[in-house]
Amino acid sequence: MKRGECPKFFVMSYETITVEKRDNGVAVITINRPDKLNALNKLVHKEGVAALDELRHDDSVRVVVITGAGEKSFIAGADISEFGGETPVTQRNTFHERTFFNSIDSFPKPTIAMVNGFCLGGGNELALACDLRICSETARFSQPEINLGIMPGGGGTQRLTRLIGEGRAMEIILTGDMIDAETALKFGLVNHVHPAAELESKTMELAAKIAEKAPIALQLCKEAVKFASRSNLDEGLRREVDLFAIVFSTEDKQEGVSAFLEKRKPSFKGR
Ligand code: COA
Repeated sequence: MKRGECPKFFVMSYETITVEKRDNGVAVITINRPDKLNALNKLVHKEGVAALDELRHDDSVRVVVITGAGEKSFIAGADISEFGGETPVTQRNTFHERTFFNSIDSFPKPTIAMVNGFCLGGGNELALACDLRICSETARFSQPEINLGIMPGGGGTQRLTRLIGEGRAMEIILTGDMIDAETALKFGLVNHVHPAAELESKTMELAAKIAEKAPIALQLCKEAVKFASRSNLDEGLRREVDLFAIVFSTEDKQEGVSAFLEKRKPSFKGR
């Protein structure tokens, strides 16, 4: 069995998503509304938040991959059919609540968006909330809100700008145009592009590789890197030293150092 391939089993039962745990520490959340191109309705947000709450406290889970069902779409944005009943106040409250985006952003373990097709609007915002983005050659990205007379509200203007820079983010947000996978790679919006047939195996291989690392070190690395775009350099450097001191006190640090000196593979326990 190759790295990244391992038995899977489904946990927890949801209506709009599936959650599957693999025995190599990787869990996969799949948005499962392929007939609506996996558009994000309120129930997806609610179930996504609940799933992440469970996975956060599950020590057997070290990395979470998020994807969309079917071959056509990762997520085609917010569910436009739900817009009718919304008022400015309900929309504002919704985005200030615990959304799927916020839960991903504050999730302590590494997250990977496996983008298998249309990655639009809230879909792109959800991918942006993840730590890494891996896509197929057929993926297409946009923030099309401007075409509906609105604007991104799930972090698009902030995270896209921080990730790819103001000029590129501005063009994507002001035109609503789609960019292809090659352009997304060039812009740094995605980490890797793979042929569609290899997307899952390559993404799982990467997830499995990360899942083998020391869990506490992974979480503190993530916290430190995320802090970089939310602080100035002095604050960031101070935070890094504090986190470094914490990781230096772990059993996994002992194990990592011993394994290196003994020329063997480390076995990290998350302690
Ligand atoms: N919200 C709700 N339903 C959506 C949706 C969305 N964001 N995106 C797609 N769907 C639904 C369609 O209404 C359609 O449902 P139906 O079969 O019941 O009519 C189904 O998904 C398939 O979409 P369709 O438009 O027929 O596919 P297509 O291949 O012709 O076009 C897209 C694909 C992605 C270009 C097109 O669906 C689209 O522009 N979607 C909206 C994207 C968007 O603006 N998102 C941001 C919202 S803020």
